[in-house]
Amino acid sequence: MHTSPIAAVVLAAGKGTRMCSTRPKVLHTLLGSAMLAYVFQALKPIAEDNILAVYGYQAQILASTFPEIKYVLQKEQLGTGHALKCALPVLEDMNIKQVLVINGDTPLITTSVIENFITRAAGAKIAFATITLADAGFYGRVIRKGDCVTAIVEAREFSPELHGPETGEVNAGLYLVDLASAVELLPEIGNANKSGEYYLTDLISLGIAAGLPVKGICCGNDTSLLGVNSPLELSEAEDILATRTCNKLLADGVIIHNPHALRASPFAEIEPGAEISAPCEIYGRVRIEHGARIDPFCVLIDTAIASGTIIRPFCHLENAQVGPDCMVGPYTRLRPGARLEDGAHAGNFVELKKATLGKGSKANHLTYLGDAEIGENVNIGAGTITCNYDGKQKFRTQIGDRAFIGSNSALVAPVDIGADTLIGAGSVITRDVPAGDLALGRARQVNKTLKK
Ligand code: UD1
Ligand code: CA
Repeated sequence: MHTSPIAAVVLAAGKGTRMCSTRPKVLHTLLGSAMLAYVFQALKPIAEDNILAVYGYQAQILASTFPEIKYVLQKEQLGTGHALKCALPVLEDMNIKQVLVINGDTPLITTSVIENFITRAAGAKIAFATITLADAGFYGRVIRKGDCVTAIVEAREFSPELHGPETGEVNAGLYLVDLASAVELLPEIGNANKSGEYYLTDLISLGIAAGLPVKGICCGNDTSLLGVNSPLELSEAEDILATRTCNKLLADGVIIHNPHALRASPFAEIEPGAEISAPCEIYGRVRIEHGARIDPFCVLIDTAIASGTIIRPFCHLENAQVGPDCMVGPYTRLRPGARLEDGAHAGNFVELKKATLGKGSKANHLTYLGDAEIGENVNIGAGTITCNYDGKQKFRTQIGDRAFIGSNSALVAPVDIGADTLIGAGSVITRDVPAGDLALGRARQVNKTLKK
């Protein structure tokens, strides 16, 4: 295993009180993925396996969401300085000299922004990134004497009388710290301030007092470094990310109609020549091939769409695989494990779950196919239901090639319907149907003369 000389610590133990939610702030999502997913993704090429997250509030939920990450527990959330201190014993056991520290609530961060920051931090024992905002809000104020940083003063502690006028330059929450300096200085951070918290930002003035080279690296108004603390900031960050992602897709050659209304995750892989009409939501590991078309009002989550396929309006697809030249929708729901093979059709009010619709097969209207394996060139009539659940267990339905299932049939699983069979409309099929047979499972019609 290659060990990188830099370790990264993600501060993620806080509750995020200003989100007004019981969910840990860093698990709130932008474009379908948790804030932390973006932070980890940006850090991965830089710190590789040396990524540590400090967790505390609802620690187990964090760990189960990102099981691949190493964690350090901060039992009580006593502040960001205390959080980093909790990570020191683990960091000292790693073969590293420098620690990159980042707030877990900076989901817009990118690898290139971090790399640039690290390059510019060369020569400093303590460096941190700054941004310039029109309204410094709750951010820590960066205090300079000439060009040199002297301190970061937290919003609650800041007063123009003491610290000089607002400059708009604030601490972005991204630091590069020499490990030996952190070991020496972190224990010196106190909590005699208005919050009673151990502020990591006190490291700056402590470093300067110890005669260490400290750099505040100005990144201008780069939105990649914005923090998210409230629902409003979350929605602003999500807008920025959506625009950034959409612009990249357009530049790559994806055709997007009404791009302002597209919400596409940067984790999606969309090939040049795919065509999307927004509004649409495309979240998670979605793959859309060249020549596929997604019409408006579709939600695609962790789904693959092959070339030549059309997803017509109002479809909801999750964990599904749609092969080439298929036709889906309008109003189709593909649930996890749904698979359409080449040229298959799933039409309006058709739901598939753990079901394969084979090559050229069609289920065009009002149908539920669950736990089912459907062969090639099968026609599933309107209103067909696979009855897969007896209240306790799920059972499978098999349908052979070229079968024709008449409308309004109930196929009571487990059941095997052979190839080239014909199921009469309105049948309730409870027994297997041998290949080539006609099955009728319905009451014979009786006509009687009405008494007048
Ligand atoms: C922090 C900075 C501030 C900076 C801003 C940038 C401090 C004291 N202040 O303020 O200078 O401008 O970020 O976005 O660092 N956390 C823990 N344990 C704790 C407290 C917090 O792990 O005990 C984590 C939180 O989960 C969060 C991150 O640290 O991900 C930052 O904490 P937050 O409370 O959001 O700090 P800010 O007030 O935004
Ligand atoms: Ca914050």
